[in-house]
Amino acid sequence: MKTITSSALALLALAGSSLAQGASFAYPLEGDTLVAGQSVDVRIDRATPSDPTTEAGIGLGMSACTSESCPSPETSFEYLFFAGGFNPQRPTTISPGEDFNAFQNFTITVPSINGNATLGFLHTSFGEGAAGFFPFSESVAITVNIVAA
Ligand SMILES: *[C@@H]1O[C@H](CO)[C@@H](O)[C@H](O)[C@H]1NC(C)=O
Ligand SMILES: *[C@@H]1O[C@H](CO)[C@@H](O)[C@H](O)[C@H]1NC(C)=O
Repeated sequence: MKTITSSALALLALAGSSLAQGASFAYPLEGDTLVAGQSVDVRIDRATPSDPTTEAGIGLGMSACTSESCPSPETSFEYLFFAGGFNPQRPTTISPGEDFNAFQNFTITVPSINGNATLGFLHTSFGEGAAGFFPFSESVAITVNIVAA
C-alpha cells in the first residue's frame, strides 16, 4: 500500500469536487477485462450537479493503446460508439451494490483490439447560474484490457 501524503489528499479532494460535477464510468472500470466481439452495456453515471444543469451531448469511443500511450478522447477515437444527446436518468429501482446516480447505458460491441485500449467520452453540459448558462466540458477516459473470445 502506498503512503498517501497530505498534498496527495488535497489533490484527491480537488479531484473529488470536480468529479462531483462531471460524469464518470460506472461500468466498465479502470483495468477491467472485456472480451472482443461481446456486447456490453457501458454505464455512464452523472452525479447530481450542484446547480441546475442542462445536458448537451456526449461522444463515446475507444482506441487501441500503443506501447507508449493510450490516445486521449480529445485527440481521436479509433471506434466511435455513440455521438449525440446525453440523457442520464435516475434508476427507478436499485439493486444491491448499485449506486443512486442518474445514468445512461450505451450498448457497444467490444472491438477486435488485443490488449490495452482506452475507453473514453467527451461530455458537455450547461450549468445554470444567476448570470446565465455556463458551459461545462470534460474528457474522461479509462484503460481496459481486451482479450480474444
Ligand atoms: C446498465 O449497465 C449496467 C452495467 O453493464 C448493468 O449492470 C445494468 O443492468 C444496466 N441497466 C439497464 C437499465 O440497462
Ligand atoms: C496494459 O496496461 C497495464 C496497466 O496499465 C500495464 O501494466 C501493461 O503493461 C499494459 N500492457 C501492454 C501490453 O502494454
